[in-house]
Amino acid sequence: MAQRVEARVLNATQAADYLGVSICTLKKIENLGHFRPYRTPGGHRRYSRQMLEEYLELSKGFFEAPVAEKILLDQGVAGLQRDVIMSLMAAIDTRDHYSRGHSSRVAANAVVLAEHMGLDEERWGALEVGAYLHDIGKIAVRDAILLKRGSLSSDQRRPIEEHPLMGARILEPVGFDKEVISIVVFHHERIDGRGYPSRLKGDAISLGARIVCVVDSFDAMVSDRPYRSAMPVKVALRELRANAGIQFDSGVVEKFTEAYYEREIMLPSLPHSLEPRLREVRLVPAVAT
Ligand SMILES: [Fe+2]
Repeated sequence: MAQRVEARVLNATQAADYLGVSICTLKKIENLGHFRPYRTPGGHRRYSRQMLEEYLELSKGFFEAPVAEKILLDQGVAGLQRDVIMSLMAAIDTRDHYSRGHSSRVAANAVVLAEHMGLDEERWGALEVGAYLHDIGKIAVRDAILLKRGSLSSDQRRPIEEHPLMGARILEPVGFDKEVISIVVFHHERIDGRGYPSRLKGDAISLGARIVCVVDSFDAMVSDRPYRSAMPVKVALRELRANAGIQFDSGVVEKFTEAYYEREIMLPSLPHSLEPRLREVRLVPAVAT
């Protein structure tokens, strides 16, 4: 069931989390007229907790499935295919418990960023599912490499650098659209052409992949890893800006920074050492309490 936050006013990320749905589904529920958020002077959607509570009460029973499953249902991925993908994602979470919750946060933050960038709403769905599944190819990487502390040899780097292509190979038979596949394949490309697997440059990298690259890198920096502690958020933002135009798309970095300071970006929870059993997702404090 969705996590409860104490704030009375929630942003879109928090409201979606509160209902246990993806941001795209939240938008669909709004479009159906079930409730109406109000707008901040900057045009961002805000939700009263009481309004969401009332909606949940009226809609009991519709909110049992995990967010990930709803993302796939939204994309028309049903039945056995959905179950297989859910199992693969669960397997990744089980193998690499340090990155648990990473895919969900990357998906939520990618959609928030798309909204900040004014991206056509019709593209949010593909972005969300691509962001959610971006690392599915890691299922094919051996634990000895995936979980290794310290640097990797060039032989060990090869399977890591192949995970985007492996991801596409897993997803293509499911019939996702090409935007989803392009996110999975190109999320490690760099603007300067020194990324992998295809060394694409600049705009040759799809916008979805450029967005996921920034969101994914930020989440990795502010998360604990086996070989290092989480980086403070301000340091991670500085890192994004320092590499804008080199590794990252400058426009995407600028909008991401803006979204962070407007408290729209979801962060990982407390470090493992402090809160080992409550590590799912801790939301950014809402605007008003
Ligand atoms: Fe990746």
